[in-house]
Amino acid sequence: MKIVLKLTVLIVLLFTSCNNTKNQVSYATANNNIENDTIHQGKILMETYCYTCHDATTVEDKRVAPPMIAIKKHYMFKDTSKEEFITSIQNWIKNPNEKDSKMYGAVRRFGIMQKMPYSKENIQKIADYIYDNEIEEPEWFDDHFRQRAMNKETN
Ligand code: HEC
Repeated sequence: MKIVLKLTVLIVLLFTSCNNTKNQVSYATANNNIENDTIHQGKILMETYCYTCHDATTVEDKRVAPPMIAIKKHYMFKDTSKEEFITSIQNWIKNPNEKDSKMYGAVRRFGIMQKMPYSKENIQKIADYIYDNEIEEPEWFDDHFRQRAMNKETN
């Protein structure tokens, strides 16, 4: 029974992730779309640039990087200001390296994130979105992670 349920969830996830990819492309290319008035630009940018690797739907054994919720949990605590959060993400993107990493397990498992030429402004928008909003969680994400990561910081 449990296995059937898991399989169903997996199939649903596979289909929704295909749909997401299509949506992201149309959001990203249609700059003047009405969607942009209601959807935070950082969300669109995050889904376009970061979700290739940091999405929430890829199953655990197929992942190439941790989901964004895990990154939020390592970079944002109760007393982290939005400015501090944005700066720390910008610093990482500018120079991903082992010494500055806060996610040793992820580095061990996936290797250091490659350096990519994202603009500071786009990272500002992405981090602003992550700071203010609940980030999608994978089905397999541990319950205690979920509580610790999401409790206080989102409001
Ligand atoms: C090509 C795959 C890939 C893409 C695209 C990608 N990342 Fe990563 N990222 C990784 C991997 C792998 C890790 C885990 C290893 C590490 O921490 O370096 C990681 C880790 C991170 C970390 C945690 C670093 C640490 O170790 O403390 C942050 C922050 C991060 N990514 C932000 C982003 C943001 C923001 C974007 C989009 C603008 C993004 N990444 C796009 C692969 C990617």
